[in-house]
Amino acid sequence: QTPPVTVVAIDGPAGSGKSSVSKEAARRLGFGYLDTGAAYRALAWHAVERGVDTSDSAAVLDATGDFDYAISLDPDHYWVRVGEADVTEAIREIRVTEAVSGVARVPAVRQSINAMFRAMVAGSGRPGVVVEGRDITTVVAPDAPVRILLTAAPEVRAARRSAEISGHDATAVADALRRRDTADSKVVDFLTAAEGVTVVDSTELDFEQTVDAVLGVIAEGGVR
Ligand code: DC
Repeated sequence: QTPPVTVVAIDGPAGSGKSSVSKEAARRLGFGYLDTGAAYRALAWHAVERGVDTSDSAAVLDATGDFDYAISLDPDHYWVRVGEADVTEAIREIRVTEAVSGVARVPAVRQSINAMFRAMVAGSGRPGVVVEGRDITTVVAPDAPVRILLTAAPEVRAARRSAEISGHDATAVADALRRRDTADSKVVDFLTAAEGVTVVDSTELDFEQTVDAVLGVIAEGGVR
């Protein structure tokens, strides 16, 4: 019998440094890396491509019927596919980002996506997987030996996001981020740490310092 795969669960809002930090932590640990937001983005892309109205829950649920996606768990070779299409870049487009909260809001969609995450982790072939998202510490892997909430002050998150997506007005980026935080936090509370979840605040930390802080929490949790 194969030993169970260790999960390091990391939640947090956009711009907290969650994705880049989780990926780097996975690399250093020799673990897999699962970006759960990418699954919601892939479904949003699929729905948008099909002209599905993402404010219509029944239509979104219907669109999951022929939604076939795959996400790489390799932190050194990250890709996302829907059917035959490589959507790694396309799922970051604004039209997808604007649609994703509508898709993530549907409970039945979350349930089927969560089942897929658990299967991906179990079949990862790695000793562990760093799983990042919004409800990993609370819903997807509440029993994980390490659970972290990575946060940062809203102004800092907005500044990081606008640095990432060049060519867009900083105020517009901050507004879009705030709108998405508001919509997303109606679905899962990713701004408050659940019991037993360690908060890492990256407001005053650079990338390396945040990675070190996260690796410190992981080591304290007995995972190496
Ligand atoms: O982390 P991200 O910005 O790529 O996530 C995209 C969207 O997916 C985000 O608006 C909220 C949603 N999401 C979610 O509801 N639950 C998760 N575990 C991960 C992401």
